[in-house]
Amino acid sequence: MGLPNGVHHLAIATRDMKAQLTFFTQVVGMELEALYWMHGVENTVHAFLRLGDTCSLSFVQAPDMASIEPVMGVSHPGFSAGSVAPGAMQHLALSVPSEVELLALRDRLRSHGYWVAGPVNHNLCKSMYVQAPEGLVLEFATEEGAIDTEQWIDPAVVAFCGISPSELEGFMRPPPFQSQGGKVSQPPPNTRPNFVFTGEWAPRGEAFFQLTDAQIAAALDSPTPPVPKRRPAP
Ligand SMILES: [Fe+2]
Repeated sequence: MGLPNGVHHLAIATRDMKAQLTFFTQVVGMELEALYWMHGVENTVHAFLRLGDTCSLSFVQAPDMASIEPVMGVSHPGFSAGSVAPGAMQHLALSVPSEVELLALRDRLRSHGYWVAGPVNHNLCKSMYVQAPEGLVLEFATEEGAIDTEQWIDPAVVAFCGISPSELEGFMRPPPFQSQGGKVSQPPPNTRPNFVFTGEWAPRGEAFFQLTDAQIAAALDSPTPPVPKRRPAP
């Protein structure tokens, strides 16, 4: 209980929502499913593109993103093996159902003038790589069957990462946790890495840490879609 079972959405920053939506719908072929003001954030646009039945690829465009410059080797890797700052996304890999569809997608990308590397066979998947707008390094991958951990957890890499045999056992079989039904109280916000509120958000951020769960929900809940449902014609 309490185990994540998939990606709901990945949110990527953009300064040009229309350019990203154009690429992912017209070039890649994904469908736009939501485009609205981000809840609780002034003048900030949130978009969702359908990614299978239960997942979305999302973009966020805030006004100050227009003046934040990407830095190759810091915020962006430039290519699929490039370095970035810890915690930054190195690349984004999206699933494609089969190798036939991977090649069809490559045709689609190339017909729009995009240079594509691959597919290459990694054994655990076959992948191809393309540069999306704003320096987003994109991989499309297809795999057949689950990964065999016996063949894909390399003892040399385990040792390189400073992981002991007992820690490895714990990583592969995490300890169970008995649900408390949501009754565990909030720890002090400075006890672990936590949100960092910068600029004009700083004072509001400090106040945010003092709110109860009910107050946070009352402040941020947006249970109604932004556009009223059309009534069917009589
Ligand atoms: Fe990858």
